[in-house]
Amino acid sequence: MKRNLLVRLPGGKDRTYPILIEPGILRRLPTILRERWSGRSLFVISDTNVNRLYGDSLTRSLKRIGYDAVLVEVPAGEASKSIDVYYGLVTALLEKKIRRGSIVVALGGGVVGDLAGFAAASVLRGVTLVQIPTSLLAQVDSSVGGKVGIDHPLGKNLIGAFHQPSLVVIDPTVLKTLPAAEFRNGIAEIVKIAAALDPKFFAFLERRAGEFDPANRSFMTSVIAMAVGLKAAVVARDEKETGLRKSLNLGHTLGHAIEAATGYRLRHGEAVAIGMVLEGRIAAITGLLSMRDYVRLERLRLAVGLPTRQPDRLHMKKGLSS
Ligand code: GLY
Repeated sequence: MKRNLLVRLPGGKDRTYPILIEPGILRRLPTILRERWSGRSLFVISDTNVNRLYGDSLTRSLKRIGYDAVLVEVPAGEASKSIDVYYGLVTALLEKKIRRGSIVVALGGGVVGDLAGFAAASVLRGVTLVQIPTSLLAQVDSSVGGKVGIDHPLGKNLIGAFHQPSLVVIDPTVLKTLPAAEFRNGIAEIVKIAAALDPKFFAFLERRAGEFDPANRSFMTSVIAMAVGLKAAVVARDEKETGLRKSLNLGHTLGHAIEAATGYRLRHGEAVAIGMVLEGRIAAITGLLSMRDYVRLERLRLAVGLPTRQPDRLHMKKGLSS
């Protein structure tokens, strides 16, 4: 059931990195890291929820096999993608003696991946980054492709960098500890990838929409591998989002605005699902999308249990995001 992929970035072999997808792979992580990077200090960054489940035990097993491993915890939630939490995190890394040769291991969902990734991109002008995504959203989208960053009151992800990980390790078994709403959040990004990039994958999701279940390991492993494979191919062709990669922002222009307008009460995936339907409607009205395909988009969203309607009242307290 294991799927290994490569993100082949232009600019030399050392820019290509593997994505390892396999149920139970988290248990083997210490040896996987040792095979690649022995003798380097590791900084595991995780949040209060994920630490309890996986962070403490991972750090203990890293220490057991001889690593100098430090665990740094940040509060769970989107509010952690702030300049204050970022500054506190970088301060902790420096106080705990991070070096240029150190490795930052981002263990958690999209917030941890973006925040820890940005810390890895900027501290000491950049250190090696390993992404261990533990939410479905991070597994299929944010852990791959090197977009890292934090939010600004004027919008989401407005401070950041492109800093590619050197390794991504995805363990679908961790999805069993994910709250149901978080699981659906990730399905939205899978639907987005299919709608933006691959009609066959979209048709596959239409046929198998009822099989989304964290306990269905083989289905989840296949779906994650399909989504990540599509995303990896886009990133390889357009790392810095000058063209093709923009298609991965489907649903995000309106989705980010809706997220901000609801004070981030709506989850990212829920907002993106609504954004996709609204953007699909605009595309159908302006003739860019057939009405039939628009209806398929709306139906699939319903079939996987995602919202399609925006909240009745939206108040724009903050500016729009990119
Ligand atoms: N989440 C969209 C991208 O990585 O380009």
